[in-house]
Parts: sequence; structure tokens; C-alpha cells
Amino acid sequence: MNRIKFFNGEQIPLEMHKAKIIQKLNLVPVQRRLEAVREAGYNTFLLKNTDIFLDMLTDSGVNAMSDRQQAAMMVADDSYAGSQTFTKLETKCEEIFGTKYFLPAHQGRACENILAQVLVKPGSIVPMNYHFTTTKAHIVLNGGTVVELPIEEALQTRSDCPFKGNMDLEKLSDVIEKYGVEKISFVRMEAGTNLIGGQPFSLANLQGVQKLCHEHGLVLVLDASLLADNLYFIQERETACKNMSVSQITRSISDLVDVLYFSGRKLGCARGGGICTNNEELYMKIRELIPLYEGFLTYGGMSVREMEAMAVGLEETMDEEMINQGPQFIAYMVGELDKRGIPVVTPPGGLGCHINAAEFVDHIPQHQYPAGALAAALYIASGVRGMERGTMSEQRDENGNEPLADLELLRLAVPRRVFTLSQVKYVIDRVCWLYENRRLIGGLEFIDEPQNLRFFFGRLGTFSDWPEALAEKFQADLGTL
Ligand code: F0G
Repeated sequence: MNRIKFFNGEQIPLEMHKAKIIQKLNLVPVQRRLEAVREAGYNTFLLKNTDIFLDMLTDSGVNAMSDRQQAAMMVADDSYAGSQTFTKLETKCEEIFGTKYFLPAHQGRACENILAQVLVKPGSIVPMNYHFTTTKAHIVLNGGTVVELPIEEALQTRSDCPFKGNMDLEKLSDVIEKYGVEKISFVRMEAGTNLIGGQPFSLANLQGVQKLCHEHGLVLVLDASLLADNLYFIQERETACKNMSVSQITRSISDLVDVLYFSGRKLGCARGGGICTNNEELYMKIRELIPLYEGFLTYGGMSVREMEAMAVGLEETMDEEMINQGPQFIAYMVGELDKRGIPVVTPPGGLGCHINAAEFVDHIPQHQYPAGALAAALYIASGVRGMERGTMSEQRDENGNEPLADLELLRLAVPRRVFTLSQVKYVIDRVCWLYENRRLIGGLEFIDEPQNLRFFFGRLGTFSDWPEALAEKFQADLGTL
């Protein structure tokens, strides 16, 4: 796990940074946690931060910035048009990705909105290694359909496949033949594939995808939001890339794609996003939409301070000791939970530790949202906020039918450079307590269900008083905290 060897043989992640600014945390008693989760309609998105001890909802926009990023924010150039800050960020993207054009947007999904409007024709399809919630929503909104082409191992929660984010090249070939090039808007690869547990693709696989796209004149788009983790795994796990630097791997990836976009909330540890390309024709089309939806072409809805921080953050992403922080903590967490028999997604990915709720609470039927119930239960047992990544995160089809998700996962995100090892150990301890008491956890049902992206602000109810029973058992075993 660590390149630094410990004399006593310990296998723990070691932080290559120190804390300079801290935020005080608050652990409210279990009875308050019970009330808070009820008030939140058992949806962890609706909890208030004052009721949360460790926020593992996401790694988006909550990574710790470096002192260099903070310093850069002070010199931001606040002009509406032609800001020096924009030029700095554009130049940094060119340096790192080799792309001539940079189009700023306020976050990742804004890039997806614009790319879908430009590229997706009604009735067309978008093949991809796996979907992400907002990506799919924008493609569908523009009349397209997502076609997922993951390899078989992608959906096996327990596996030793190092690159579960790979696309099945044979299936891609078949899809091109079946639908024809005309019907395909673009092909999308997602780095650090989010919804299957932050799993990477290999450089060799991306080369294979590019070859097919090139042969058929198809546009290849990379969602680079979780590229940092993917870079780390390529360096660690892909033999042919062992001696390549992070920058060399990055360049090998970006040279293969026609367009890359990213959420700067993840990649670059700032808040914003952007689209990079060398394709002038596409650039001209996208350029029309940025001022319409985002802001002028030299800020795209972002604060110039965040843009300064992003330029430095992207540069710092080329540092091995920066990109290994998340994955090493996650590997520790996954390893410790696995040792104790808790069902987790293996091998460890980026983004966070993913618990297989389908197995953890196998007594809860899938239409009663096992991963959502587990997220609510873990909050009661620990004050830790995780995120449901299962059927609740799916969208009903046009006939109102609810598709069941391929996987029911509880994601415990590990934002970069934020938590300490003792905090991670606390989470492991509480997950273990919950596992012992898992039969107390019951299902959930929607009582208020929004039509789009319902997981964000939908409210749920229980079929019994299981949350009360769980809180009571917790208090009897461990006291009020
Ligand atoms: N693509 C991927 C792979 C993502 O993980 C996200 C966001 C987006 C696009 C959208 O970017 O949030 O800046 O609009 N993922 C967050 C998460 C929300 O918690 O996983 P955004």
C-alpha cells in the first residue's frame, strides 16, 4: 500500500501533508441523530451539517486545498472578460492535457448539459463504460439513450480485476455494427467509474476504445472528473505504465480522446469545471452555449478565485504523493472491513469505500432501497453521513416503472486530505457494530418523490419503528455517543 516501509511491518497510509487550518466537528447524541434523520426523510442528502460528525457523502467540492491553492486565490483577476486568471487556467490545461481550447463551466454537470445539447440527437445512443446519474439525465433529456458496455467483472462486487472500469471492446464493436455510426452521438469513457465503486480503466483499454472510434469516425469523450484516482491505479496496477510519470500517463490518456470534461470539484480540488478539446469545429459549437448557460467565455460561471485554485490544483494532481492520498485511505478502509467479514466492493477503488448493501442487509428487498436504509442506519449508529448509490439513485422510465439498480451500494466517500486515520478507524468500528445488528435495519419507501434525480431531495418513510429500535440498541451497547 505504502512506498514507505514501516519497521514493525504495519500497512497504513501515511499523510504527506500536515493540517494548517481545521474545522471543529460535533458528534450529537444518538437520540438527536434519530430525530435528525427522521426530519431529513431518511435521505442523507437532507441532513444538516451541524448534525453530522464525519461527512462522507461525497468527495465533490470538499477536498482540502493546499496552501499554494489558497495563496493563488488572493491574486485572482476579477475581470468579466479577458481575465488573466482564465489565461492561467487555459494554459495549465494545455500544459497538462495538450489541448488548445478550454471552455469553462460552473461544474461537471454543466459541461454535460452543453455536450449533450451539442452532440446528442433525438433517437441516438451514447455507448459508455458505465453511466453517471447527471450524465444520463442530460443525455435522456436531449432524446438520447445510454448504452452501457461494462466488462463482466464491473458488476461483481467481489473481484480481483484491477480495471473494472474497462469497456467491453467486443460489445462496442457489436453496438457499432448493430446501430450504425449515424445513430451514435459519441462514445463516453468515465475515469474512476463512479457508480461501480470508483473503479479505473486501463490505458490499454482506452487505446482499444480509441482505435474503434477512430476506425468509425466516432467522437470519443472522456469524463475526467475522477481522473486523479484513475491515474494512480494505472501507475500502480498496469505493468506497461509502471515507469511512466503521472504527467506522461495523463498525456497518453488525453491524446486519445477528442473531448475531455471534468468536475473541478473533484479534479483540481476547487469548485467549477471545464471542457478541453483540440477539435475546432466542436469548440465553435460549444462556445455558443457557454455564455448562454454559464457566463462569459473567460469565467463560465466560476469564481475567479476558484479558477486560480483549480489551476494550481491541476498542477498538484500531477504529483504522485497527492493522488495517492485518497486511494490509500480507501484501500485501508476496504482491507480492514473485508478482514472483518463486512461485504465491501473489491478491489478498492477511488472516491470512497463502497459497502455492498445487497449483502449487508440481504433481508431488505431491492424495491425498499437497502442502500438508502443502510445509509440512514449508519448515520444513526455513528453520525457518519454516506450516500445511497443504488435503486434510489435510478430514475423511473416514461411509464413510471422503477428500474432496479445493478448494484446496491452505500458509498463512504473519502475526500482528499480531509480525514485522519483515527477517524477512519471510528467509521470502521461503527460499521462493524451495525453489521452485528444488521437484522434490526428495515426498508424505506418514498413519501415524496421528485421526478428528476429523486435521490437528491426525495423524502422517505419506514414500514416499522426500526430506526427507534436501532437507536435503543445502540444506546444499550455503546451509550449516547
Ligand atoms: N461525472 C462524474 C463521474 C461525477 O462523479 C460527477 C459528480 C459529475 C460528472 C458531475 O459533476 O457534481 O461537478 O456537477 N459527482 C458527485 C458525486 C456529485 O458525489 O459523486 P458536478
